[in-house]
Amino acid sequence: MFAVYADAPSPDDPIAALRVGERPEPEVPDGWVAVRMRAASLNMHDVWTLRGVGIKAEQFPMILGCDGAGVLGDGTEVVLHSVIGDPQWAGDETLDPRRTVLTEKYQGSFADLVVVPARNVLPKPAGLSFAEAACMGTAWLTAYRMLFVKSGLRPGQTMLIQGASGGVATALIALGRATGLRVWVTGRTEEKRALAEQLGAHATFESGARLPERVDAVFETVGKATWAHSMRALKPGGIIVISGATSGPDPGADLQRLFFLQLRVVGSTMGTRDELADLLRFCDVTGIRPAIGAELPMTETETALRQMLDGDTAGKIVLTR
Ligand SMILES: NC(=O)c1ccc[n+]([C@@H]2O[C@H](COP(=O)([O-])OP(=O)(O)OC[C@H]3O[C@@H](n4cnc5c(N)ncnc54)[C@H](OP(=O)(O)O)[C@@H]3O)[C@@H](O)[C@H]2O)c1
Repeated sequence: MFAVYADAPSPDDPIAALRVGERPEPEVPDGWVAVRMRAASLNMHDVWTLRGVGIKAEQFPMILGCDGAGVLGDGTEVVLHSVIGDPQWAGDETLDPRRTVLTEKYQGSFADLVVVPARNVLPKPAGLSFAEAACMGTAWLTAYRMLFVKSGLRPGQTMLIQGASGGVATALIALGRATGLRVWVTGRTEEKRALAEQLGAHATFESGARLPERVDAVFETVGKATWAHSMRALKPGGIIVISGATSGPDPGADLQRLFFLQLRVVGSTMGTRDELADLLRFCDVTGIRPAIGAELPMTETETALRQMLDGDTAGKIVLTR
C-alpha cells in the first residue's frame, strides 16, 4: 500500500529519513480495525520520529502520522484516537506506563490504511470535514486537555498562549475564545499575530514583550525560548501548563520565583478517548473549526515538513489521500 515513512532515524537532517513509497498491507488483529485514511495532520511529533526521538531504533521503518480521519470497511466515517495502551489498563489512558502514540510502536496514519484497536476510533461528526476531523486527535486533543483538564481556568480569566500560528497554539486560541476566556497570544511576526487576532485572540504581543498585567495561566509548547517570559507573566498562584518544548527542554527553572509566588507547573500529554469524544461534541455544538493553513496530498509530505521546520505555519498542515 501507499505510505509515507521514516526509513531510519536521522537526528540532524530529518528530511533525509523521509520515504514516500510502498509498505506491506497491515494485518488486522482480533479486536482491531483497519481505517482507510482520507486525511491526517502533520505534527512536530513526525519530525521527532524522523529524528529518532521517542522511538526505539528497532521500530524503523515507521509510517508517519499520529492522527487522522477515514472510513471503516462498513463505510462508517471515523476519527482516530492514537493513544494505544494495555487493554487491561483502567482509567486515564494517558497515565498508562505502557501507552504509546501511533508511530512510537504501531505504524502511523500517512498511508492508505492504518490499523488500531476498535476502541481507538470514534464516529466523525457529519459537520466536520475529513481534513478538520484529522486535526482533532493530536494538536486539538492536546490543547483541549491543557485547557479544560489541567489549567483549572474559569471563564473571564486570562490565558497567555506562547506561539501564535502552530497547531496546538491555534487550537488553544479557538478553544479559549469559545469558552469566554480572555485570550492573549505572543507571536514571532506581525503576520502570525494578525492570524491569532483573526482566530479570536483579544490581544497579541511580540515574543517576550512586557504584558499590561499578569495572567492566570500560561500555555507552553515552545520551552527554552519563552520559558523565562512565561514565569514572569504569571500572577501569584498562577499556572503554566506545558505540553512541548520545541525550542529546547532545559530552560532554567527560576525556582525562587516558583516557590515565592507559589506558581504551579503542570505537564500535559495528548488526552483520553472520552476527552476526544467531548472535544468532537464541543466543535459540533459551538461550530468552531480548526484553522488549516495548508492542505496537501500525502505525496507532498516533504513540502509540508519543510513548512513546519521553517516555522512557516498558519494553523494545521493537513495531508490528504
Ligand atoms: N505532549 C503532547 O501530547 C503534544 C501534543 C502535540 C504537540 N506537542 C508538542 O508541542 C510542540 C508544538 O507542536 P505543534 O504541532 O503545535 O507545532 P507547530 O505547529 O510547528 O507550532 C510551533 C509553535 O511554536 C512556536 N515556536 C517555535 N519555536 C519558537 C521559538 N524559538 N520562539 C517562539 N515561539 C516558537 C511557534 O510560534 P509562532 O506562531 O510565533 O511562530 C508555533 O506557535 C512540539 O514540541 C510538539 O512536540 C506535544
